[in-house]
Amino acid sequence: MNASAPIPVIAIDGPSSSGKGTVAAALARRLGFHYLDSGALYRLTALTVLKAGINPDDEAACEAAARAMQPVFKDGRIFLGKEDVTEAIRDEAVGLAASRVAALPAVRRALVDLQKSARRAPGLVADGRDMAAVIFPDAVLKVFLTATPEARAKRRYNQLIAKGISANLSDLTRDLAERDRRDRERKAAPCVPAEGARILDNSDMDAAQTLETVYEWYREIQASRP
Ligand code: C5P
Repeated sequence: MNASAPIPVIAIDGPSSSGKGTVAAALARRLGFHYLDSGALYRLTALTVLKAGINPDDEAACEAAARAMQPVFKDGRIFLGKEDVTEAIRDEAVGLAASRVAALPAVRRALVDLQKSARRAPGLVADGRDMAAVIFPDAVLKVFLTATPEARAKRRYNQLIAKGISANLSDLTRDLAERDRRDRERKAAPCVPAEGARILDNSDMDAAQTLETVYEWYREIQASRP
Protein backbone atom coordinates (compact mmCIF):
# COMPACT_ATOMS: atom_id res chain seq x y z
CA MET A 1 0.00 0.00 0.00
CA ASN A 2 1.18 3.52 -0.82
CA ALA A 3 2.34 5.04 2.52
CA SER A 4 0.68 8.38 1.77
CA ALA A 5 -2.62 6.82 0.69
CA PRO A 6 -5.54 7.35 3.07
CA ILE A 7 -6.60 4.41 5.23
CA PRO A 8 -9.05 2.45 3.07
CA VAL A 9 -12.70 2.32 4.06
CA ILE A 10 -15.31 -0.06 2.69
CA ALA A 11 -18.79 1.36 3.30
CA ILE A 12 -21.71 -1.03 3.44
CA ASP A 13 -25.09 0.68 3.76
CA GLY A 14 -28.60 -0.62 3.54
CA PRO A 15 -31.89 -1.15 5.36
CA SER A 16 -32.31 -3.31 8.46
CA SER A 17 -31.92 -7.05 8.09
CA SER A 18 -30.29 -6.69 4.67
CA GLY A 19 -27.40 -8.70 6.14
CA LYS A 20 -24.98 -5.78 6.11
CA GLY A 21 -23.79 -6.31 9.69
CA THR A 22 -22.97 -9.99 9.12
CA VAL A 23 -21.23 -9.30 5.82
CA ALA A 24 -19.34 -6.25 7.08
CA ALA A 25 -18.04 -8.06 10.17
CA ALA A 26 -16.99 -11.14 8.15
CA LEU A 27 -15.31 -8.99 5.50
CA ALA A 28 -13.41 -7.07 8.19
CA ARG A 29 -12.20 -10.37 9.69
CA ARG A 30 -11.11 -11.66 6.30
CA LEU A 31 -9.18 -8.51 5.44
CA GLY A 32 -7.81 -7.95 8.95
CA PHE A 33 -9.61 -4.58 9.02
CA HIS A 34 -11.42 -2.83 11.87
CA TYR A 35 -15.20 -2.95 11.91
CA LEU A 36 -17.69 -0.18 12.70
CA ASP A 37 -21.34 -1.04 13.43
CA SER A 38 -22.70 2.51 13.27
CA GLY A 39 -26.26 1.33 13.96
CA ALA A 40 -25.07 0.26 17.42
CA LEU A 41 -24.32 3.92 18.23
CA TYR A 42 -27.89 4.98 17.39
CA ARG A 43 -29.20 1.99 19.35
CA LEU A 44 -27.00 2.95 22.33
CA THR A 45 -28.34 6.49 22.17
CA ALA A 46 -31.91 5.14 22.02
CA LEU A 47 -31.33 2.83 24.99
CA THR A 48 -29.87 5.69 27.02
CA VAL A 49 -32.80 7.93 26.09
CA LEU A 50 -35.42 5.27 26.92
CA LYS A 51 -33.80 4.46 30.26
CA ALA A 52 -33.61 8.12 31.23
CA GLY A 53 -37.27 8.63 30.31
CA ILE A 54 -36.35 11.24 27.68
CA ASN A 55 -38.83 11.83 24.87
CA PRO A 56 -37.13 10.45 21.67
CA ASP A 57 -38.40 13.54 19.81
CA ASP A 58 -36.70 16.00 22.22
CA GLU A 59 -33.72 16.87 20.02
CA ALA A 60 -31.62 18.79 22.57
CA ALA A 61 -32.03 16.14 25.28
CA CYS A 62 -31.27 13.30 22.84
CA GLU A 63 -28.20 15.15 21.56
CA ALA A 64 -26.95 15.60 25.14
CA ALA A 65 -27.48 11.88 25.78
CA ALA A 66 -25.56 10.96 22.60
CA ARG A 67 -22.66 13.23 23.53
CA ALA A 68 -22.49 12.05 27.14
CA MET A 69 -22.48 8.32 26.57
CA GLN A 70 -19.13 6.56 26.53
CA PRO A 71 -19.67 3.13 25.04
CA VAL A 72 -16.89 0.57 25.34
CA PHE A 73 -16.51 -2.10 22.65
CA LYS A 74 -14.59 -5.05 24.02
CA ASP A 75 -14.24 -8.63 22.77
CA GLY A 76 -17.41 -8.40 20.70
CA ARG A 77 -19.41 -7.04 23.66
CA ILE A 78 -20.76 -3.51 24.16
CA PHE A 79 -20.77 -1.77 27.55
CA LEU A 80 -22.34 1.43 28.83
CA GLY A 81 -20.57 2.10 32.09
CA LYS A 82 -20.32 -1.29 33.78
CA GLU A 83 -23.44 -2.65 32.13
CA ASP A 84 -23.19 -5.14 29.24
CA VAL A 85 -25.88 -3.92 26.81
CA THR A 86 -24.97 -6.14 23.85
CA GLU A 87 -28.34 -7.90 23.84
CA ALA A 88 -30.42 -5.02 25.19
CA ILE A 89 -29.65 -2.78 22.20
CA ARG A 90 -30.93 -5.46 19.78
CA ASP A 91 -34.43 -5.30 21.23
CA GLU A 92 -37.13 -4.33 18.68
CA ALA A 93 -38.33 -1.41 20.83
CA VAL A 94 -34.78 -0.05 20.97
CA GLY A 95 -34.47 -0.42 17.17
CA LEU A 96 -37.65 1.58 16.64
CA ALA A 97 -36.51 4.28 19.08
CA ALA A 98 -33.11 4.29 17.33
CA SER A 99 -34.77 5.19 14.04
CA ARG A 100 -36.54 8.09 15.80
CA VAL A 101 -33.43 9.55 17.42
CA ALA A 102 -31.46 8.95 14.19
CA ALA A 103 -33.84 11.31 12.37
CA LEU A 104 -32.64 14.20 14.58
CA PRO A 105 -29.80 16.15 12.89
CA ALA A 106 -28.22 17.14 16.23
CA VAL A 107 -27.95 13.48 17.25
CA ARG A 108 -26.35 12.60 13.91
CA ARG A 109 -23.83 15.41 14.34
CA ALA A 110 -23.07 14.28 17.89
CA LEU A 111 -22.03 10.84 16.64
CA VAL A 112 -19.83 11.91 13.71
CA ASP A 113 -16.48 12.08 15.54
CA LEU A 114 -17.01 8.73 17.22
CA GLN A 115 -17.63 7.13 13.83
CA LYS A 116 -14.69 8.83 12.11
CA SER A 117 -12.34 7.76 14.91
CA ALA A 118 -12.94 4.12 13.91
CA ARG A 119 -10.86 4.70 10.77
CA ARG A 120 -7.58 3.10 11.78
CA ALA A 121 -4.85 1.24 9.88
CA PRO A 122 -4.85 -1.08 8.09
CA GLY A 123 -8.46 -0.35 7.10
CA LEU A 124 -12.09 -0.16 8.11
CA VAL A 125 -15.31 -1.85 7.07
CA ALA A 126 -18.21 0.35 8.22
CA ASP A 127 -21.88 -0.52 8.05
CA GLY A 128 -24.90 1.71 8.44
CA ARG A 129 -27.13 4.00 6.41
CA ASP A 130 -24.90 6.97 5.60
CA MET A 131 -21.39 5.52 5.75
CA ALA A 132 -20.77 6.24 2.05
CA ALA A 133 -22.72 9.46 1.65
CA VAL A 134 -21.83 11.32 4.85
CA ILE A 135 -19.25 9.78 7.17
CA PHE A 136 -16.74 8.29 4.70
CA PRO A 137 -17.49 9.90 1.30
CA ASP A 138 -14.00 8.88 0.14
CA ALA A 139 -14.62 5.17 0.79
CA VAL A 140 -12.81 3.05 -1.82
CA LEU A 141 -15.82 0.76 -2.15
CA LYS A 142 -19.43 1.77 -1.52
CA VAL A 143 -22.01 -0.98 -1.34
CA PHE A 144 -25.76 -0.60 -0.88
CA LEU A 145 -27.06 -3.94 0.28
CA THR A 146 -30.76 -4.57 0.06
CA ALA A 147 -33.40 -7.29 -0.11
CA THR A 148 -37.17 -7.40 -0.40
CA PRO A 149 -39.10 -6.47 2.80
CA GLU A 150 -40.44 -10.06 2.94
CA ALA A 151 -36.95 -11.60 2.79
CA ARG A 152 -35.69 -9.21 5.47
CA ALA A 153 -38.62 -9.78 7.83
CA LYS A 154 -38.15 -13.55 7.45
CA ARG A 155 -34.43 -13.23 8.30
CA ARG A 156 -35.20 -11.20 11.40
CA TYR A 157 -37.84 -13.73 12.41
CA ASN A 158 -35.39 -16.64 12.02
CA GLN A 159 -32.71 -14.77 14.02
CA LEU A 160 -35.09 -14.18 16.94
CA ILE A 161 -36.44 -17.74 16.94
CA ALA A 162 -32.87 -19.10 16.86
CA LYS A 163 -32.15 -17.03 19.99
CA GLY A 164 -35.21 -18.51 21.69
CA ILE A 165 -37.09 -15.19 21.52
CA SER A 166 -40.73 -15.53 20.50
CA ALA A 167 -41.62 -13.48 17.44
CA ASN A 168 -44.51 -12.79 15.16
CA LEU A 169 -43.79 -12.46 11.44
CA SER A 170 -46.57 -10.00 10.68
CA ASP A 171 -45.60 -7.73 13.61
CA LEU A 172 -41.98 -7.83 12.44
CA THR A 173 -42.97 -7.02 8.85
CA ARG A 174 -45.01 -4.05 10.06
CA ASP A 175 -42.21 -2.73 12.33
CA LEU A 176 -39.66 -3.15 9.55
CA ALA A 177 -41.85 -1.25 7.09
CA GLU A 178 -42.28 1.56 9.63
CA ARG A 179 -38.54 1.77 10.29
CA ASP A 180 -37.74 1.63 6.54
CA ARG A 181 -40.15 4.44 5.82
CA ARG A 182 -38.73 6.66 8.57
CA ASP A 183 -35.13 5.94 7.54
CA ARG A 184 -35.83 6.57 3.85
CA GLU A 185 -38.00 9.66 4.16
CA ARG A 186 -36.10 11.59 6.83
CA LYS A 187 -34.34 14.75 5.75
CA ALA A 188 -31.08 14.03 7.61
CA ALA A 189 -29.04 11.34 5.82
CA PRO A 190 -31.92 9.31 4.35
CA CYS A 191 -31.23 5.62 3.77
CA VAL A 192 -30.83 5.65 -0.02
CA PRO A 193 -27.89 4.48 -2.17
CA ALA A 194 -25.01 6.98 -2.22
CA GLU A 195 -23.67 8.28 -5.48
CA GLY A 196 -21.24 5.73 -6.86
CA ALA A 197 -22.55 2.91 -4.66
CA ARG A 198 -22.87 -0.59 -6.11
CA ILE A 199 -26.32 -1.94 -5.34
CA LEU A 200 -26.60 -5.58 -4.35
CA ASP A 201 -30.04 -7.17 -3.87
CA ASN A 202 -29.31 -10.31 -1.90
CA SER A 203 -32.91 -11.58 -1.46
CA ASP A 204 -31.90 -14.88 -3.06
CA MET A 205 -28.36 -15.07 -1.71
CA ASP A 206 -27.07 -16.40 1.58
CA ALA A 207 -24.54 -14.55 3.73
CA ALA A 208 -21.58 -16.47 2.24
CA GLN A 209 -22.55 -15.55 -1.35
CA THR A 210 -23.05 -11.92 -0.39
CA LEU A 211 -19.64 -11.88 1.31
CA GLU A 212 -17.93 -13.40 -1.77
CA THR A 213 -19.52 -10.82 -4.07
CA VAL A 214 -18.40 -7.86 -1.96
CA TYR A 215 -14.95 -9.38 -1.38
CA GLU A 216 -14.46 -9.81 -5.15
CA TRP A 217 -15.50 -6.19 -5.75
CA TYR A 218 -12.87 -5.06 -3.30
CA ARG A 219 -10.22 -7.29 -4.91
CA GLU A 220 -11.04 -5.82 -8.33
CA ILE A 221 -10.63 -2.31 -6.95
CA GLN A 222 -7.33 -3.21 -5.30
CA ALA A 223 -6.07 -4.83 -8.51
CA SER A 224 -6.92 -1.76 -10.56
CA ARG A 225 -5.09 0.64 -8.21
CA PRO A 226 -1.51 1.67 -8.87
O1 C5P B 1 -28.58 -0.99 11.54
P1 C5P B 1 -29.46 -0.96 12.76
O2 C5P B 1 -30.78 -1.63 12.58
O3 C5P B 1 -28.75 -1.45 13.98
O4 C5P B 1 -29.74 0.59 13.02
C1 C5P B 1 -30.69 1.04 13.94
C2 C5P B 1 -31.27 2.38 13.47
O5 C5P B 1 -30.22 3.37 13.51
C3 C5P B 1 -31.75 2.37 12.02
O6 C5P B 1 -33.12 2.06 11.91
C4 C5P B 1 -31.46 3.78 11.55
O7 C5P B 1 -32.56 4.63 11.81
C5 C5P B 1 -30.33 4.25 12.42
N1 C5P B 1 -29.04 4.34 11.71
C6 C5P B 1 -28.79 5.49 11.01
N2 C5P B 1 -27.56 5.65 10.42
C7 C5P B 1 -26.63 4.71 10.49
C8 C5P B 1 -26.89 3.50 11.18
C9 C5P B 1 -28.13 3.34 11.78
O8 C5P B 1 -29.63 6.36 10.90
N3 C5P B 1 -25.45 4.92 9.93
